[in-house]
Amino acid sequence: MDVLLLGASGRIGRRTADELLERGHAVTGVSRSGTVEEVDHPAFAAVAGDATDADDVAKLAAGHDAVVSTLGPSGEEDPAVLTEMMEAVIDGLRRASVDRLVWTGGAGGLEVAPDTKLVETDDFPEEWESLARAAIDAYDVLREADDLDWSYVAPAAVIEPGERTGEYRTAEGELVADEDGDSYISMEDFAIALADELEEENAVHTYLGTGY
Ligand SMILES: NC(=O)c1ccc[n+]([C@@H]2O[C@H](COP(=O)([O-])OP(=O)(O)OC[C@H]3O[C@@H](n4cnc5c(N)ncnc54)[C@H](OP(=O)(O)O)[C@@H]3O)[C@@H](O)[C@H]2O)c1
Repeated sequence: MDVLLLGASGRIGRRTADELLERGHAVTGVSRSGTVEEVDHPAFAAVAGDATDADDVAKLAAGHDAVVSTLGPSGEEDPAVLTEMMEAVIDGLRRASVDRLVWTGGAGGLEVAPDTKLVETDDFPEEWESLARAAIDAYDVLREADDLDWSYVAPAAVIEPGERTGEYRTAEGELVADEDGDSYISMEDFAIALADELEEENAVHTYLGTGY
């Protein structure tokens, strides 16, 4: 597939680029700077673009088979920019006539019990709350885009650089945790989950949780 990867210079993004390239896909990697120094492959091209600008997204997405997002707000940026990005990406895909979108979401909106989202639990870290709620707002925009074949794939509660084991579990709308209640996935295995979903389309129109 020819894949447009938005946020390719990010922590999850560069691992996703590696995973897609390893599987034989061609990847155009977008960031505002236009440089992705960590990824070096003949089927990879780094380009500059602004994911909050629908014109940019439409131009970049044209001719690609699918768009994968590993976008995130940077530094001190208002997390609400996630909704701006979502709106611009949806608009851009429509204009470019690309209908497949795999979006890296947040775990905060996944259920830990019936009618209880992770972000609503007492232990949820306060410093992550505004980002988690912004990711849910962005999801609420995506879920209305019935004309696109979107998948919203969320990491576990904790995601860090780690091992590529190839083992992970998924759950529709629910947080994935192990028998001790720990919810974790390495960025390398999350990249596998994103690539699997792109290729297999098992969770179209679904908020998918991932973890061990
Ligand atoms: N447990 C969880 O739920 C959890 C944990 C971690 C991350 N996440 C989610 O996963 C996503 C990615 O996380 P990450 O840690 O990999 O993020 P990151 O390292 O900050 O990477 C973000 C990427 O987005 C790009 N970007 C930001 N604004 C852009 C714009 N306007 N136009 C184009 N590119 C833009 C950045 O490049 P430039 O700055 O060069 O443009 C960078 O490539 C985020 O949405 C985050 O919320 C969820």
